[in-house]
Amino acid sequence: MLVLGLETSCDETGVALYDSERGLLADALFSQIDLHRVYGGVVPELASRDHVKRMLPLIRQVLDEAGKQASDIDALAYTAGPGLVGALLVGASCAQALAFAWGVPAIGVHHMEGHLLAPMLEEQPPAFPFVALLVSGGHTQLVRVDGIGQYQLLGESLDDAAGEAFDKTAKLMGLNYPGGPEIAKLAEQGTPGRFVFPRPMTDRPGLDFSFSGLKTFALNTWQQCRDSGDDLDQARRDIALAFQQAVVETLTIKCKRALKQSGLNSLVIAGGVSANKALREHLERMLGEMKGKVFYARPRFCTDNGAMIAYAGCQRLLAGQHEDLAIKVQARWPMESLPAL
Ligand SMILES: Nc1ncnc2c1ncn2[C@@H]1O[C@H](COP(=O)(O)OP(=O)(O)OP(=O)(O)O)[C@@H](O)[C@H]1O
Ligand SMILES: [Mg+2]
Repeated sequence: MLVLGLETSCDETGVALYDSERGLLADALFSQIDLHRVYGGVVPELASRDHVKRMLPLIRQVLDEAGKQASDIDALAYTAGPGLVGALLVGASCAQALAFAWGVPAIGVHHMEGHLLAPMLEEQPPAFPFVALLVSGGHTQLVRVDGIGQYQLLGESLDDAAGEAFDKTAKLMGLNYPGGPEIAKLAEQGTPGRFVFPRPMTDRPGLDFSFSGLKTFALNTWQQCRDSGDDLDQARRDIALAFQQAVVETLTIKCKRALKQSGLNSLVIAGGVSANKALREHLERMLGEMKGKVFYARPRFCTDNGAMIAYAGCQRLLAGQHEDLAIKVQARWPMESLPAL
């Protein structure tokens, strides 16, 4: 089955062609980062308008790259939520219009299920069951995964998502959006031990997270450095390192707890923050000690992309699921409500 996947939940237009027999044939992405950078974050109306502009040329591009024609496509998959409603509607209307014109089925995919399954596109995919850490711009969740659609939420952030905390901390120090990669780069030249940030909610049982306090801690530290006339370039690097270490260690402690509680030693990390090298190294060390393994997608499939949507949609389509022609999207959508395959 050849599936055309469309992702438009936020600020990247992603398109991909996934073949259930041959794997990923082509994928293309247009990132709107430059468009939103001047505003320090995503402007929903601008995001929707840009998705409209990019979608059809990107579809043409992946078809050409894969040497396929519209008539070869067996089904469409699009992100139906969670995300920005206006942006989601672009992908949903485009997918449903093409499905109607081509006489093929379409399926709405849960964006976080897409992220969660992205490591399945790699050469050594994880086997069920596993624990998944979803760490993106809008979500921080620990999930027990027994199969596609068999999700048990073990814990989540009570306030900011991990990626959001990276973005806000970067912004308060005058760094560019998105902040995650900026902080990661600066942290490499940080002075170890100059600042020590708290590890929120690790001193009590449970698997929930809270990251908003870290951002406040970063703000106070940054203001102290400014008030005392410190070298601000070095202060940025040192705060970046202390902040990243706090996030990474907190995530690692909670992952270990979740694995022990579930009796599993297989961990999947997904979402934009899973591209973070320090996080990968920490988790690999921890899983090494547990004689387990950590799985993640190649960096460009950690952030939003069409390939994960084409893959996730294809699995559900193969199981016989699809939508009627109504265009439905959801800004909020609990992943546990998805049907099991
Ligand atoms: N190397 C990195 N280190 C830390 N954070 C990173 C890194 N690369 C990207 N990020 C963060 O990942 C986030 C973007 O990831 P992603 O595209 O998965 O999120 P999103 O789609 O905005 O949110 P969601 O998937 O929850 O709707 C941003 O917050 C960004 O700062
Ligand atoms: Mg995302």
